[in-house]
Amino acid sequence: MPLPDSFLQELKLRSDIADVVSSYVTLRRSGRNLVGLCPFHGEKTPSFNVYPDNGSFYCFGCHVGGDVISFVRKIEKLDYLEAVRFLADRAGLQMPESRADDGMAAQRRRMLELNRETARYYHAVLNSDVGREGMEYLRGRALTLKTIRHFGLGFAPPGRFALVNHLRDKGFTEEEAIRANVAFRGRNGGAVDRFFNRVMFPIIDLRGNVIAFGGRVLGDGKPKYLNTSDTLVFHKSGSLFALNFAKNEQADRLILAEGYMDVISLHQAGFPTAVATLGTSLTDEQARLMARYAKEVVLCYDADEAGQNATARAIPMLRAAGLLVKVLAVPNGKDPDEFIRSYGDQGYARFKSLLDSTGNDVEYRLQKLRQAHPLDEPAERVAFLTGAAELIAGLQNRIEQEVYAGRLAEETGVDRSAILRQADSIARKRRGEEKKKEFREFQRDAVGLRDRVNPDKSSNLRAAAAEEALLSAMLRYPELAQLAAGLLSPDDFVTAFNRRVFQTLTQKLAAGTELSLSAVSADLSEDELSSVARMMARYHDVPASERDVKEYIQVLKSEQAALRVRQTAAESQPQELLSYLESLRNQKK
Ligand code: UTP
Ligand code: MN
Repeated sequence: MPLPDSFLQELKLRSDIADVVSSYVTLRRSGRNLVGLCPFHGEKTPSFNVYPDNGSFYCFGCHVGGDVISFVRKIEKLDYLEAVRFLADRAGLQMPESRADDGMAAQRRRMLELNRETARYYHAVLNSDVGREGMEYLRGRALTLKTIRHFGLGFAPPGRFALVNHLRDKGFTEEEAIRANVAFRGRNGGAVDRFFNRVMFPIIDLRGNVIAFGGRVLGDGKPKYLNTSDTLVFHKSGSLFALNFAKNEQADRLILAEGYMDVISLHQAGFPTAVATLGTSLTDEQARLMARYAKEVVLCYDADEAGQNATARAIPMLRAAGLLVKVLAVPNGKDPDEFIRSYGDQGYARFKSLLDSTGNDVEYRLQKLRQAHPLDEPAERVAFLTGAAELIAGLQNRIEQEVYAGRLAEETGVDRSAILRQADSIARKRRGEEKKKEFREFQRDAVGLRDRVNPDKSSNLRAAAAEEALLSAMLRYPELAQLAAGLLSPDDFVTAFNRRVFQTLTQKLAAGTELSLSAVSADLSEDELSSVARMMARYHDVPASERDVKEYIQVLKSEQAALRVRQTAAESQPQELLSYLESLRNQKK
């Protein structure tokens, strides 16, 4: 049973899409629309559009679109009901109760409760006799009681059933503990604690929910860390440790470290914008997440080879998300935690001066190039300059390019303008390649190869174009919707997806519902909704009239007729076609 229409209407009235999107994306007015950098893919020029007049959004870059509810679903990673609840909370509306505790949403809420209880338990154990070893370990690593409380750190006791028993007392089943990944099924079929004899780091999402745990052995045992794998409430590659704190700083700059301990140490020392991935290398999704909260990221990985490789991998990903990247090299092969601790009270000042003297990633990459190509050898010098010119070619800012070219000129004795010319020619070549790629993508789009939602489209381009124009007119103009519904039946549609959208629209009309993207959002998957949002975005600035609708209908009828001819032809001549193909094959031989 869907939510009552009246409730949804009220919710949408009170959830202005421009307001909601603005709290995640900086929007600029452009005619009747608002535009900004898409939060769903990395980009440097805005292709993300919000249309306040019809309550929809669409990104021409990654083809994601929908209404205010689907925006919240996507950005907060919620299911439909959770997104509705999120918006209702925001608007101060009461959820209709009978519907409030359904399916997935309820399961998630339950899992979050279990996680919270688990975190509370581990924290209490840490502060008790049983947790003495854990407490000694953390204190031995110079964490204060305040820091331990702030991060909600805990201790999983050595027994195998301590947590499972505790959770049972609190009314959670073994099944639930296993599903939340804090326990696993043992050989005798019962649930066994997943973490034991480890200090525990709860992972907290942006809304303060405990979504997962990392657990560290006390000594040198293996594995050093155990982490919750993905669950209903935990999506590892889209989460960042301590972002829940860092985001409140409203700072322009985030520090990206490698480990839990580095982050905690940095926060304790006075750098509350440090975050870390959760035991995996950085993903595009995490890079975009950071771009939502900051303009700049300082990479502060370990000095070992693994850390340096991870740095090299992360730089282009962060840049692609639109972030300015700096690389901080901690001296003497230390990781940030060791560095800070080694200076005691001076930790803040020392790290701050590292931070302030940090070059951007161009300098870092130049340094790497220098190491690879000793300048005293002419051939190596050429290789160095070629690599350097490629780096300069990738810079957006002319002044920045000139500064680096100048420095390189001094360093190598090669003319500054020659270096710039080389960089310009590389940049030109890259732009040419990008243009070509763009065009190929456009072509592919145009023939619908990408259209998973409506696979019929590629072989029925003309019909599909008419259908989409028609559907978008119906969604925008109530009187045209009535007209089209009266003149057309679903059978007149050539492509299956558009036919289904038409059917949905006419059913809504018959039920007296006012048409909008939101009106159909519950009937469509996210991809399908994006497809409809695309139709609306494409025709947003093209007014439609009664005459247009009739023209589209004409096109559809003639396309249908042509299709029937093609089909009969195909059905009546299978034998002829086969022998024709056969003769072709024989000719080739
Ligand atoms: P590190 O080995 O650098 O750990 O791994 P660390 O955080 O500095 O911890 P200490 O200082 O040795 O106590 C960096 C991160 O990689 C993940 C964890 O997220 C860790 O914080 N990791 C590491 C794992 O997930 N599993 C492992 O076995 C090791
Ligand atoms: Mn460490």
